[in-house]
Amino acid sequence: MDNTSQILQRSAELFAGQRLLLVNPPVDGLTRQLPADWHVWTWDYFVQQGLGANLEQGHLRFSHLCPQVEGLDGAILVMPKAIERAEFALAQMVPLLRAGCPLYLVGEKKGGISRAEKLLASHGSAIEKLDSARHCQLWRSVVHGDAAPFRLQDWQQSITLEFPDQSVELLSLPGVFSHGRLDEGSQLLLEELAPLPTGKVLDFGCGAGVLATVLARRNPGCRFELVDVDALALYCAGETLRRNQVQAEVYPSDGLGDVHGRYAAVVSNPPFHTGIRHDTSVAEQFFNEVTRNLLPGGELRIVANGFLKYPPLIEAHIGQCRVLRENSRFKVYSAVAPG
Ligand SMILES: C[S@@+](CC[C@H](N)C(=O)[O-])C[C@H]1O[C@@H](n2cnc3c(N)ncnc32)[C@H](O)[C@@H]1O
Repeated sequence: MDNTSQILQRSAELFAGQRLLLVNPPVDGLTRQLPADWHVWTWDYFVQQGLGANLEQGHLRFSHLCPQVEGLDGAILVMPKAIERAEFALAQMVPLLRAGCPLYLVGEKKGGISRAEKLLASHGSAIEKLDSARHCQLWRSVVHGDAAPFRLQDWQQSITLEFPDQSVELLSLPGVFSHGRLDEGSQLLLEELAPLPTGKVLDFGCGAGVLATVLARRNPGCRFELVDVDALALYCAGETLRRNQVQAEVYPSDGLGDVHGRYAAVVSNPPFHTGIRHDTSVAEQFFNEVTRNLLPGGELRIVANGFLKYPPLIEAHIGQCRVLRENSRFKVYSAVAPG
């Protein structure tokens, strides 16, 4: 069981008989057996899939927006990795709570729970640390019931990116990769002007949608599909495409799990952190599985930190790995599936 669930379990008497909203939970033994009147909000498609069968119909929401549950006795936020994502979630949760309702924050010390007191101070009073164990802390505040309604537009950030051939309006939300700017690696990938093979192209781990938007305009013979595990990223990608008049399909997938069919090309700035740990397993699994999604002669084009040992993995699964571009930090790799 996750450490955050263990500390919640130790405080089970606080939650008994309460109608609670649990936000951003892990998938584990505790969260698979929640009381029937609890509601869960997640933005992680892995959690949506993991808990889908265990909660009452309508009690699990995968979205960038919090479900508008009425009659709540309190709410618990499991601290997300990015502090601005915590602020975004709390701004949606607190207006759902009546005056006097408890708001709990639980998380790992290395996951930023040390900021709990400050975070909760903007949303209530009587703030106290209730428990501390297994490198985790559980905090509580009492809300005043006078929170301003949440307005998504107050949290959206729109920036204009200038490329030599086009300008793009990029929309992002807190905690979406490279929020409010263009990542240096993604920029290097977009400096590569070699055309993509025509046909269906997958943007894996699309974030706010910058790769597909720019590449779709440059490659009119390509039809893009964008996938990500994060509901906020998917919302932003959809908005970025719409604002730049690019038609493409956007849908959730954990890894390539929900990606079916074969593609003329797959482009990606693959994730290499999951949660609070440094982890390349998502990218490794991606190289392993992507072969079944590439057409014969299909191209995999990715950008990655130069220190990540991806070329042997790419060559083991797809084929010869060429470096299309590089700078002091990043490399753009291309490999073509056997024809
Ligand atoms: C390095 S970012 C790249 C974002 C975007 N393509 C860009 O260039 O700005 C990697 C993206 O992969 C997503 N991701 C992480 N784990 C994933 C998984 N298991 N399945 C699908 N997407 C995942 C993250 O949410 C993030 O948006």
